[in-house]
Amino acid sequence: MRCLEIKRQMATDEIAHVTELLDAAARADGRRPLSDHLYLDLVNGGLDGFAGFLASEPGHDHPVAYAQISRGNDAYAFELVIHPHHRYEMATLGPELIDAAIDVVAGAGGGLVNWWVFEPTSAHVQLASDAGMAPGRSLYQMRRSLPTGLDVTVTTRAFVPGSDDQAWLSVNNRAFAGHGEQGGWTLDTFCQRQQEAWFDPEGFRVHDIDGRMAAFCWTKVHDPAARGEDPLGEIYVIAVDPDFHGRGLGKQLTLAGLEHLAGRGITEAMLYVDADNVAAVSLYEQLGFRIHCTNAAFVVDVAPSGGAS
Ligand SMILES: CC(C)(COP(=O)(O)OP(=O)(O)OC[C@H]1O[C@@H](n2cnc3c(N)ncnc32)[C@H](O)[C@@H]1OP(=O)(O)O)[C@@H](O)C(=O)NCCC(=O)NCCS
Repeated sequence: MRCLEIKRQMATDEIAHVTELLDAAARADGRRPLSDHLYLDLVNGGLDGFAGFLASEPGHDHPVAYAQISRGNDAYAFELVIHPHHRYEMATLGPELIDAAIDVVAGAGGGLVNWWVFEPTSAHVQLASDAGMAPGRSLYQMRRSLPTGLDVTVTTRAFVPGSDDQAWLSVNNRAFAGHGEQGGWTLDTFCQRQQEAWFDPEGFRVHDIDGRMAAFCWTKVHDPAARGEDPLGEIYVIAVDPDFHGRGLGKQLTLAGLEHLAGRGITEAMLYVDADNVAAVSLYEQLGFRIHCTNAAFVVDVAPSGGAS
């Protein structure tokens, strides 16, 4: 008989079990299953709004499936990973984990849930529809080769941890107001992200106007050994303060980030962008980025359950 454990906080040994499952999925699929936001929430033990769902079966010393919800700015993100040896059980594991996640959200007062899926198949569409979920956002992964051969014509500097934190939060939260994952960041989230092994202030380019932070481009170099991927440089977060939009800064800061990555010997750049972010998609296309793959979300607005406070 299958056992489903629901964890609002993750212990170290449970994180290790889940990591083994994620590694097995990464080896089978050639890419890491959880998005960065969810992965960091998992390895950091789970912030408020986190729930991890561990499915296990007798006779298997590893979880057969793992699902997670993490609370973002205005919605929960949900992802589901089935162990490569148990994918034939998708039709039963999927609904159990989805229903459990919806129950947890209902019990916590309800809210929007986005189930993120890498290149959904008809099986995902069916599972989503059975759970009352409708097609929602799409996220492009775009890529281009480096170097770009294009000149950076604005001055940038490295981010200074500590003294730039509040200015960065202000630009980020103003630029991404209403964005599901990137908006509404707190100093805690930001400081936690700065503790990541890949964090490099030199790769976090900042442009000031009259002593005020006007735009930034935060890059990330993927460790190929750690995540089972090719060496890649990522435009991790880029934004221009709304007071300075439309002056060419988005283009210049992207180029500054790409120049930094190329300087580190990276030959392939990638980024994630919402398909309906017309300004950003057209900026990236203009700079030679092309769509590499698509993640899609199925969305459901979960009502609070009777006992919710
Ligand atoms: C996307 C963003 C960085 C663009 O910054 P910007 O400084 O206003 O853009 P630029 O002036 O450099 O414009 C460069 C190109 O972007 C595209 N672009 C910018 N704003 C646009 C808009 N409102 N509509 C359509 N295209 C637009 C155009 O292709 C433009 O080239 P053009 O001027 O030759 O037409 C900015 O809108 C922003 O910070 N948005 C919020 C955060 C965000 O979405 N970041 C990207 C997440 S992946």
